[in-house]
Amino acid sequence: MRSDAWYAGDDRNAYIHRAWMRRGVPDSAFEGRPQIAVANTASDLTPCNSHLDEVARSVKNGIYEAGGIPLELPVVSLGETLVRPTAMLWRNMAAMATEEMLRANPIDGVVLLGGCDKTIPSLLMAAASVDIPAVVVPGGPMLTGTFRGVPLGCGTDVWRLSEEVRAGTLSQEDFLRSESATIRSRGHCNTMGTASTMGLLAEALGTVIPGTAGTPAPDSRLLVAAHETGVLAVDLVRSERRPSTILTKASFHNAIVALAAIGGSTNAVVHLLAVAGRLGIDLTLEDFDRIGSRVPLLVDLAPAGRFLMDDLFRAGGLLAVLEQVSDLLDPTALTVTGEPLVSYLGSSPIWDPEVIRPRPRPLLEEGGIAVLRGNLAPSGAVIKPAAASAHLLRHRGRAVVFDSIEDFHARVDDPDLPVDAASVMVLRGCGPKGYPGMPEVSNMPLPKKLLEAGIRDVVRICDGRMSGTAYGTVVLHVSPESAAGGPLSLVRDGDWIILDVPGRTLTLDVPTDELATRTSSPEAAAAYAAPTRGWEKLYVDHVLQADTGADLDFLVGSSGDQVSRESH
Ligand code: FES
Ligand code: MG
Repeated sequence: MRSDAWYAGDDRNAYIHRAWMRRGVPDSAFEGRPQIAVANTASDLTPCNSHLDEVARSVKNGIYEAGGIPLELPVVSLGETLVRPTAMLWRNMAAMATEEMLRANPIDGVVLLGGCDKTIPSLLMAAASVDIPAVVVPGGPMLTGTFRGVPLGCGTDVWRLSEEVRAGTLSQEDFLRSESATIRSRGHCNTMGTASTMGLLAEALGTVIPGTAGTPAPDSRLLVAAHETGVLAVDLVRSERRPSTILTKASFHNAIVALAAIGGSTNAVVHLLAVAGRLGIDLTLEDFDRIGSRVPLLVDLAPAGRFLMDDLFRAGGLLAVLEQVSDLLDPTALTVTGEPLVSYLGSSPIWDPEVIRPRPRPLLEEGGIAVLRGNLAPSGAVIKPAAASAHLLRHRGRAVVFDSIEDFHARVDDPDLPVDAASVMVLRGCGPKGYPGMPEVSNMPLPKKLLEAGIRDVVRICDGRMSGTAYGTVVLHVSPESAAGGPLSLVRDGDWIILDVPGRTLTLDVPTDELATRTSSPEAAAAYAAPTRGWEKLYVDHVLQADTGADLDFLVGSSGDQVSRESH
């Protein structure tokens, strides 16, 4: 075992490694028992994950039961709602720090505890680059809160209610009253946002014991699953099932099918690309469209639909969804249990066909994420048609350009802003380098005068991301971003832009010879981030574009689990 390199033998170094660990552990701890880290993202400042200490206790019990030694390892934790300027800026830092600590320590395997948006992606990226046996316990969604008898979806209903206030149809007082009702319990957001999506996709990838993801955080079955995961982690080490065994092109195929069927967050695109990049798997933006667009949307969850994660769980959960599309899955993809994902299908009925639609009557024949290209997005951009307005999926309109989110806030409600229902709102400077960190600002709130006129959606285009809890006809992840010299930096107010989602194109309708004479907007450039030190500097100098997952260039790939030199 890997930990033998620290603990085995009679030399001075083995003595030191053992002696400092002898605080309650038996002698047998150093006699060939698998050392299993529990990488824990519990943090009071990541409220979605604060219950993971309790989950960790169950995992540790399971590890002991199976003969392993559990070792809790607190790792960098990212709370989506609090961390500035955006949790995405720190995803790669969390992944890098976790990777290095997994490699640097005498562990044979790891149980990954995540929940809030960036935590499962960063843990998977880390484990993939070290490639020691790893299994995920998704922390699970919170229970559904209600306000005046109406269920509240995290994020989605905050956006909706705040728009209602701006439109004058909800009082500020009532808006604030809803605040204490919206977060009902421990757990992550209960909409099909990024946290829910990544928990479910971790299972579709094979890195979670099938049937676990989506279990609500307060549900006692989560602790049972955590215990079983601890038991499994020891078996993973003994049978040497590593991330590279489980995470293959076939498992990413299955994750993309799942992403489409559940109507998951667009953020999953950058996260899955980044995880695949750590393993050298040839996954491209086009794979999301090629594989996902044939898949029906079956799950009726907010933001696109009516229900919440608790409903998905009682309706049968991910396995019931996957059972409906089992013919589209790759049967060769294995899970952490050693069994193929498809072997878990066949006995997972739908208990509520309103929440999970049976295959013959999907919400949409073609779910998934559409990948757009054109002279405005040479390396690609994405849109989630299920969250968009059908009448805007083919649209030609004039650009209203904002050079930064601050510029947007300063002018959006100006009565003289030349914007109408046919306009195309463009926000730039929000890519990985420009902001920095590619924040979730692409779903710009609509100008007040449009809201007052009853308009609830216009085409929006941005090089940033959108919260998985948001909705609208929003073109995201435009690559290359404006701060990297992408053509988004050339757009001027009044330019015609053509969005054609069925045709998969995004076009700046300006003659090529005129475009050739244009230079990047100096106003936009003035707003780009220009950090001089620290992580932000490292990040801006090395971050890749969204179309390949926005990882750092030097973090792509794997360094394996070996450390050649001793510390003493
Ligand atoms: Fe943590 Fe939404 S804020 S999952
Ligand atoms: Mg989010």
